[in-house]
Amino acid sequence: MDSLQKIADAHGLMILEDAAQALGSKFKGRSASTFGVAGAISFYPAKVLGCFGDGGAVIVQDDAVYERIVQLRDHGRSSSGEILSWGLNSRLDNLQAALLDLQFRDYDSVIARRRHLAGLYHECLSDVPELALPPAPASDPDHFDIFQNYEIEATRRDELKAYLKEHGVGTLIQWGGVAIHQLKHLGITQDLPRTDELFTRLLMLPMNMSLQDEEVVYVSNVVRAFYGRAPRNS
Ligand SMILES: Cc1ncc(COP(=O)(O)O)c(C=O)c1O
Repeated sequence: MDSLQKIADAHGLMILEDAAQALGSKFKGRSASTFGVAGAISFYPAKVLGCFGDGGAVIVQDDAVYERIVQLRDHGRSSSGEILSWGLNSRLDNLQAALLDLQFRDYDSVIARRRHLAGLYHECLSDVPELALPPAPASDPDHFDIFQNYEIEATRRDELKAYLKEHGVGTLIQWGGVAIHQLKHLGITQDLPRTDELFTRLLMLPMNMSLQDEEVVYVSNVVRAFYGRAPRNS
């Protein structure tokens, strides 16, 4: 964020933050979604705080931006109920809001559990040189990760994925393995070789609230076996 802010300041640009997966994450003590002019958070069911359908929130810092977002989400209707502009229907319905409200009460413990599971993966896999892991939960005071995903970089990723499947472990490749600039119909022409390379290596290991500690150890041991490493016992 520091680097992005420098670029934005130098060129008079606004930062609009995609914090879809990041509710509760912090950088240098500051929450994701609060860095830019506006930050968007997704409550899609797969998110750490997910509703049973589509939902989201926009976090803003400024009254004028707030008023504009209020209008955009509700057919151009202002806070006082008057239609002032063209808009959309992007309201969060009350049932979804109630579900989110209920889950939000336990959100800190959900984050703590995910951080615990991530720490366990780290303990079990950090000595495998064929992998690059996300930073361990407490490894850097500047970064507080909620571990929406546990995404690793893996050598021979596709073979590892198949091997995990053979051993009963489901994994995901985010975005179907396609980076945004690789989508053919969006007209993006940039060549991004480092991103291309990264997308051949990324793999998401199981990370969810039904995972038991023993299951993380099991998954890790399957990964270790794939690379010819001895299992970890605890
Ligand atoms: C990083 C990121 N941006 C944007 C989105 C889109 O969120 P939504 O489906 O709530 O519009 C998602 C979720 O899929 C996401 O993970």
